[in-house]
Amino acid sequence: MSDGSSFYITTPIFYVNDVPHIGHAYTEVAADVLARWHRQSGDKTWLLTGTDEHGQKILRTATANGVTPQEWADRLVETAWKPLLETVNIANDDFIRTTEKRHEVNTQKFLQHLHDEGHIYTGEYEGFYCVGCEEYKQPSDLVDGTGEYVGQQVCAIHSKPVELLHEKNYFFKMSAFTDRLLELYESNPNFVQPESARNEVLSFVKRGLADLSISRSSFDWGIKVPWDESHVVYVWFDALLNYITAAGYGQDDEKFASLWPATHIVGKDILRFHAVIWPAMLMAAGIEVPKQVFGHGWLLVGGEKMSKSKLTGIAPQQITDTFGSDAFRYYFMSAITFGQDGSFSWEDLSARYQAELANGFGNLASRVIAMVVRYCDGTIPTPGEFTADDEAIIATEKRATEGAVDAISRLAIHEAIASVWELVDELNGYITSQEPWGLAKDPANRARLETVLYTALRGLGTLAVLLSPVVPEATAKLWTALGGTGDVTDQRIDQAWKWTGGDTVAPLEALFPRIEASFD
Ligand code: ME8
Ligand code: MG
Repeated sequence: MSDGSSFYITTPIFYVNDVPHIGHAYTEVAADVLARWHRQSGDKTWLLTGTDEHGQKILRTATANGVTPQEWADRLVETAWKPLLETVNIANDDFIRTTEKRHEVNTQKFLQHLHDEGHIYTGEYEGFYCVGCEEYKQPSDLVDGTGEYVGQQVCAIHSKPVELLHEKNYFFKMSAFTDRLLELYESNPNFVQPESARNEVLSFVKRGLADLSISRSSFDWGIKVPWDESHVVYVWFDALLNYITAAGYGQDDEKFASLWPATHIVGKDILRFHAVIWPAMLMAAGIEVPKQVFGHGWLLVGGEKMSKSKLTGIAPQQITDTFGSDAFRYYFMSAITFGQDGSFSWEDLSARYQAELANGFGNLASRVIAMVVRYCDGTIPTPGEFTADDEAIIATEKRATEGAVDAISRLAIHEAIASVWELVDELNGYITSQEPWGLAKDPANRARLETVLYTALRGLGTLAVLLSPVVPEATAKLWTALGGTGDVTDQRIDQAWKWTGGDTVAPLEALFPRIEASFD
């Protein structure tokens, strides 16, 4: 149940070295589904996404392309990263770029504060660095190279050799927060989820934390360290702060107080940054830690993480151009257990589109509405006495609603959809067994016909409200056809099952048209 509380949810801010693939779109959609769900639960919801634009990775890409890093970032943000949000229909409330003034100024403010409080010291870093991860690496983080890198130690994620750094850096005394972090994971088991992510973080921190180098002095594409302009802030330290600089930290205390703390949705590749470094930074600054860090799984290609650097990325438009954004959203949210890895295949997408969206949901909606148009002139039928079959549908509406609400409270998006799909399946079975077209043949069955069509319409209204966060385009059309008042996005999701119909229905085009495409 909602108390109109604040729900601030974030995606990672993505590197602009390259264009997005479906892995990035996956995170965006998951966060957007949760945000839309909470808006429909009456929560004051805020969805933040954005781009991570500093550091060596971006600098090198820009240089290789003969432009300044700022020019490169501007180009990628405008031509690729903002358009991604349109492609998969993201209703974000803000978009932050780490090159914006509001971010730079308040990142410096945060750092100066940590410096003043004695959490920062001067040191020297000598060790490995992976530019792909923008991460300092321990020898134990590396694996044996293969192919052209045989005989070398490479980054386990990027499969490329790491670099040896030796430079004067500023360090954050992160080791001092080891016990407080362990206490946090202990006292709040939900802080890191799912369970597999929590266990990984726990065992990592239990081994003890080192201090963290938070500046670089061998290049200058970054935010200047306020007390020493010969250093720029380490890109991850800069990037993590986006979650508070976008929320008003340092400039709008009232806004910050109303939004923070956030729920962070991230891929498991960047779990440690969010579940270890980030809360330690906040503890040092005396700011409340996030509400939750959820590390979802990877989309795999040939058993490996789909990635920009390995050129295994599939562009989201490749899918949406054929299937539409609703199908993209539905497929990835329902077919993959949120929190686990999953493989994408065109065959699976096509099969589910046809079976679940076109035949299961879309046809149900078109058929029921067509029958109300045909047998009742489009006027909402008046129910007579309910039979056990009708009552069973209404009971399922309630169960599906409650099941979905409960699943979303655990961020189990796939379970929420499965709960709603019980209603889709039962309604289809109900139409088949009640045979309204048979009832319509005999005027003596008029009362029964109207009761059946009324019950089916009710069910469709419930589906429209419950599925609106996942398939916003189709449910908006369905809601209009059902004669629902207002926008479907304004309907309380936890009350979805109570909807009892509008006055008239309007014909509905196919929500998920047949797709004649082959993917061999
Ligand atoms: O790490 N499967 O940015 P990034 C699922 N800038 N999700 C995937 C994925 C895959 N195969 N590939 C990428 C960064 N993602 C930093 C973040 S946050 C303060 C800074 C998604 O462009 C997933 O969310 O490398 C992953 O965590 C993120 O993209 C990494 O994006
Ligand atoms: Mg990455």
